[in-house]
Amino acid sequence: MSEIIKVGVAGTGSYVPERVVDNAFFEGILDTNDEWIRQRTGIAERRFVADGQENSDMCLVAAREALENAGVSPEELDLIVVATISGDYQMPSTACLVQKELGAANAGAFDVQAACSGFVTALGLGEAYIRSGRAKNVLVIGAEALSRFLNLEDRGSAILFGDGAGAAVLQPHSVCGKAEILKTTLGADGEGWSHIWIPSGGSKRPATANTVAEREHLIRVNGREVYRFAVHRMGEVIGQMMDGYDQQELGLIVPHQVNQRIIDAAVERHEIPGDKVMVNIDKYGNTSAASVPIALHEAQQAGRLEDGKLVVLAAFGAGLTWAGALIRW
Ligand code: UT7
Repeated sequence: MSEIIKVGVAGTGSYVPERVVDNAFFEGILDTNDEWIRQRTGIAERRFVADGQENSDMCLVAAREALENAGVSPEELDLIVVATISGDYQMPSTACLVQKELGAANAGAFDVQAACSGFVTALGLGEAYIRSGRAKNVLVIGAEALSRFLNLEDRGSAILFGDGAGAAVLQPHSVCGKAEILKTTLGADGEGWSHIWIPSGGSKRPATANTVAEREHLIRVNGREVYRFAVHRMGEVIGQMMDGYDQQELGLIVPHQVNQRIIDAAVERHEIPGDKVMVNIDKYGNTSAASVPIALHEAQQAGRLEDGKLVVLAAFGAGLTWAGALIRW
């Protein structure tokens, strides 16, 4: 019988653009205010890419940091997966642009589209590749340039999102000896497909002057519906990940940074104290697929990931989709 290959997170990295956009920016263009945004979302500011700065540029910075922290060279990579809904192009994948720039000549590369659940989905995919013996070194990235898809005439969605990238290098646990991925989960409910979407630009409704004039190429969110779904699913994913483990072993929950109130409600269900929850939504807003890996890397840098303790990743997003991971750090 072949030996089961355990998988570890060998290194992480992240990047956010320099341009800080505070809530006052939206006061000038929408009927909104700083107090409403802070109270209803927990967001104080977010980052937007500069003109000429692309999603793949952010991927590269985060990826290089993760590779350095893992002690892995680009040539050693077998696979690069980029989770994004805002890649540089509709085609080719952003992963191929990253592969070229890194000089990762031996890596396969593709993108994953699972919106805010994207990074955790890609992490589970990378884990499966290594566990099955098909890859040894996998680079997983979550990155978004959502500022390019904001409808600045819609106060219900424009204030929510920000840009950034986070990355992780996965290896057999026997090689890196770090952060073992104990389990992952994945789910979808396509019934809710139209709660977060971009109506045009796909094959059903290709972009025309008319679709652009109607702002159909920009993000639309049914906030109330997503809110209800999010509290329920985020709580459920956390429960699933912790099932069979003692809460005393929990080091940190790293949730998708969607809304402070959603995070609070989800962790309250499990009576998890606030100091065991990583939150940086105040600084970056919702960076979709980038939110969990940025938060994970910042938690690591801040010394909040204790050796031997459990780390839970919990995300959900458009699709509707959800994904979770349990890691023993
Ligand atoms: O990662 C997945 C993508 N993220 C999401 O889908 C977001 C999930 N949803 C949420 O975070 C929250 O539902 C929102 C922050 C979007 C909205 O918060 P809420 O507490 O659910 O507000 P609401 O939609 O129930 O709206 C309450 C009021 C409405 O006014 P009326 O109808 O009561 O007069 C909205 O029009 O707040 C109004 N409103 C705003 N007011 C000031 C909505 N957006 C704003 C705004 N500024 N930016």
